[in-house]
Amino acid sequence: MPGSRKYDEHDPADAASRAPGDGMVLHVDLRHVVHALSDALDLVGIDDVNHGKRVGTMAAECGRVLGLGEDDRNFLFDLGLLHDIGVSSTRTHRHLVTEFDWKGSQAHCQRGCELLQGFQPLAAMALPVRYHHTRWDSLADSAEVDGRVALQANLVFLTDRVDALAAPHYAAGVLGAAADIRAQIALHAGSYFAPHLVDAFERASASEAFWLQLEPRGLGAVLHDMAARQAPYRATLPQLRQLAELFARIVDSKSRYTAEHSQGVARLARHMAACMGLPRLQCDKLEIAGLLHDLGKLRIPDEILDKPGPLDERERRIMHTHSFETFQILRNIRGLEEITPWAAYHHEEPDGSGYPFRLAGAQLAVEARILRVADIFQAMVQDRPYRKGLNAQQVLAFFDTLLAQGRVDAHIVAVLQADPEAAMACALGCAAPA
Ligand SMILES: [Fe+2]
Ligand SMILES: [Fe+2]
Ligand SMILES: [Fe+2]
Repeated sequence: MPGSRKYDEHDPADAASRAPGDGMVLHVDLRHVVHALSDALDLVGIDDVNHGKRVGTMAAECGRVLGLGEDDRNFLFDLGLLHDIGVSSTRTHRHLVTEFDWKGSQAHCQRGCELLQGFQPLAAMALPVRYHHTRWDSLADSAEVDGRVALQANLVFLTDRVDALAAPHYAAGVLGAAADIRAQIALHAGSYFAPHLVDAFERASASEAFWLQLEPRGLGAVLHDMAARQAPYRATLPQLRQLAELFARIVDSKSRYTAEHSQGVARLARHMAACMGLPRLQCDKLEIAGLLHDLGKLRIPDEILDKPGPLDERERRIMHTHSFETFQILRNIRGLEEITPWAAYHHEEPDGSGYPFRLAGAQLAVEARILRVADIFQAMVQDRPYRKGLNAQQVLAFFDTLLAQGRVDAHIVAVLQADPEAAMACALGCAAPA
């Protein structure tokens, strides 16, 4: 990963940086993070998954033809995986995969750039993402854009458009469409795409293997190989928090009705844990779990999330898949083993009647139980498509019902009852948490 030095526990400099008993540093594998982000973005495609993975595979393959070294090819691969990180909406995704040049395309480039700038280990991707829908004839002479960035951005643009042209053909076999796609890309040499990148694409895509590796089985093998190339990264808790915020912003920007939800749940869960006397480190980790808990909502179609009324039975079933998807994404990140179940179990209920794992009793850590209560509280005080946010007294009355049914824990709800205003302020972000 360009720009990130690998942590080596045998290196005296790294060893010395760890205070005895210092639990504040977690070892996260950056490649797992990139792949997990890519899996999260795939969810937005709903039926058309793997777009980023195909773009990354093609970009790295063109990089090979261009004679780039392994680090640069890996960078292109990761850039392909994450280039659409600014897309959270299924509607935007549809435009991008069905139209060659969509006039609304710049917004997701800008958004993606801002997201990546916020997390230093991935910040080198920010500018290429910013320009990945900019034509070569405006990019080439731009004084603002570095030549290397321009090439990375334009290669991703090119392979991204190849995938948009190929997408309707993957099911029936993409080889039959390859000649036509190659001809269409060639027409745009010098206008949309740099001529020497079009040339590299023509050489790379002359083989059947180039296209066959884009089909699901071929992609699986490519990803397996890439995941094996570890990129260990020593993340402090504040850095891990930045990463979690990056994930949370992607989810929260999906819908104006989920905007700020993850942030509010994280603040409130942290506040509640602190009030209950949990150690500082657990409070920090719980805040991160709060930021990550609804990642799986990326898979829920916009029409369901934004529906201006209660969900019907079918829609509710779809909505209930989201916490399982959260689990699926996070379980693959080494270093998040403790946080993952807290995040993914936020719809489990103490008596085993929740979802999706139907856990009960000691299977549910106190952190997961706190997150559940914080999630309910935040969701009720926030405006939703079909109602205004409720006030603290209305929400506490609802919690009384849940308590009577044994669906939440009394000693956790007691924190809300003791100081509803503080809980409200945390949930809505009107004041700093305690
Ligand atoms: Fe894009
Ligand atoms: Fe949820
Ligand atoms: Fe939630």
